[in-house]
Amino acid sequence: MSAILPLYPLENPMPKAQADAPIGIFDSGIGGLSVAQEIANYLPHEHILYYADTAHVPYGPRTDQEIRELTANAVEWLYRQGCKIAVVACNTASAFSLDYLREHYGESFPIVGLVPALKPAVLQSKSKVVSVLATPATFRGKLIKDVIQRFAEPAQVEVLTVTNLELVPFVESGQCNSVECKASLKNVLDPIVAQGADYLVLGCTHYPYLKQSIADIYGDQLTMIDSGLAVARQTARILIKHELLLLQPLEYKVRLECYVSGKNAEALSFVLKHLIHEKISWSIHDVVDKLHE
Ligand code: DGL
Repeated sequence: MSAILPLYPLENPMPKAQADAPIGIFDSGIGGLSVAQEIANYLPHEHILYYADTAHVPYGPRTDQEIRELTANAVEWLYRQGCKIAVVACNTASAFSLDYLREHYGESFPIVGLVPALKPAVLQSKSKVVSVLATPATFRGKLIKDVIQRFAEPAQVEVLTVTNLELVPFVESGQCNSVECKASLKNVLDPIVAQGADYLVLGCTHYPYLKQSIADIYGDQLTMIDSGLAVARQTARILIKHELLLLQPLEYKVRLECYVSGKNAEALSFVLKHLIHEKISWSIHDVVDKLHE
């Protein structure tokens, strides 16, 4: 593993970005592209810069402090690229970092984060048993505990929290529909189906790419909910609040520019071909700076 560097002090702040600057989106890996595509659909004029820290994925098994530092480095990279906003498209990273990041950048660089979409699942569950599938780190964080307390407990909905560290590597290696991936999904989801869960909250941005496999196994026994559209709406609200929403189409070469750490661009371009909707133009590049090698 590469060394994790200390957080950047905000010594030389960037000039305040304008509406024509890109939206910055970050995830530990390529999972956050599920969010990036929702944002691209919802905000059709915007140019998106996506950063995947593939040198350090998965974040799920890491310590709180490692996750906080890696997230701070990634968000700082987006800031230094001149992005107008950062969307932390990762439940695991959001769980430990949002307060710190908001305090650090203040009004000059708005931060949007993610929390598993438990509320709609609680409101719609008929069996009153819902499950959240997320990384162990996400469950250690305060955000998920807060939503369980705010929404599930008053409605007397039982929340089954489950984790499976094999799933993120399946998505990263383009094996979402493989026999091995389906077997791994069955291991973690059979027990929650047996306990009566009718809603499954996809509490990791990699998991929307597993929807097809989950539907192949469970049909309409499990209704899946993710946070993508809610995050796209929240991003629009924050851009409007900061007068940063782009109202006219821009001139740019590609809509979704992806940058990856760990020199993985070539290998990942084959995976991205299957993950990114064909209507969205995209490119992929290695990040070459000292912080992210
Ligand atoms: N995509 C990330 C999330 O939403 C985490 C994946 C990982 O790095 O473990 O939680």
